[in-house]
Amino acid sequence: MTKPDVHAFHHEPTGTFSYVVRDPGSASAAIVDPVLDYDAAAARTSTDAADEVIAFVRQHRLETAWILETHAHADHLSAAPYLQGELGGRIGIGRGITKVQATFREVLNLGEALVTDGSQFDHLFADDETFAIGGLTGRVIPTPGHTSDSVTYLIGDAAFVGDSLFMPDAGTARCDFPGGDAHVLWQSTRRLFALPDDTRLFMCHDYAPGGRELRYETTVAAQKADNVHVGGERTEEEFVKLRHERDATLGMPKLILPAIQINIRAGHRPTPEDNGVAYLKIPLDRF
Ligand SMILES: [Fe+2]
Repeated sequence: MTKPDVHAFHHEPTGTFSYVVRDPGSASAAIVDPVLDYDAAAARTSTDAADEVIAFVRQHRLETAWILETHAHADHLSAAPYLQGELGGRIGIGRGITKVQATFREVLNLGEALVTDGSQFDHLFADDETFAIGGLTGRVIPTPGHTSDSVTYLIGDAAFVGDSLFMPDAGTARCDFPGGDAHVLWQSTRRLFALPDDTRLFMCHDYAPGGRELRYETTVAAQKADNVHVGGERTEEEFVKLRHERDATLGMPKLILPAIQINIRAGHRPTPEDNGVAYLKIPLDRF
């Protein structure tokens, strides 16, 4: 199994890990889950985090084949279009994004302002579709549950799981967003646990529980044995109960409203109004 070189970038304000995944046999690379900085009070975007990724790609003279989203994130805005403008590459996401678009078109009453065929992205991946990064082969494993469009990108021996798993001591991500489902997430974890034990798993988030150091990489074996939500002897019913109880205590992510409106458009902003400014919507009493 080819072992891609993986470089992680941590975005401290949102606790997100983005990755550059490189084919060791060529200059070809993919960028996974890039972050656009966002100052919520001012509704102002900036590109500090994305510029770090760009500097890395240029410094190592990499060619960007793909910019991959594991799902429509609710906690950060995607920098995919900005990176594409600077570095090239095709923006891909799982084909389940069309369902997420339809859901949030209704929630946000976007009407004709949002087409829901996924055409904002360059490519919608089917379940188990394969793709190339130079000599590396990637495969798309459907892992819905946290969201209905969540996928895992298995690239060589490295799997980018999005929010389908957190580190073993942190468990799993919430399943209470529109389209989320704890039973479905449980089934997705079984799909990941069926991968070879030494498969490297790369998380999209870590919040350093208990004040430990940040961690973002683990293995299938470690998750199967030790994940506090879905590992060891845990049953599906126990997990679903635990997940529901925990989700009932969680407030909405700080950036969900701007993030989802940008991310279901593949990171693009809505069409500017006649004064040249793009606006986002805030639905009152909807969440
Ligand atoms: Fe997420």
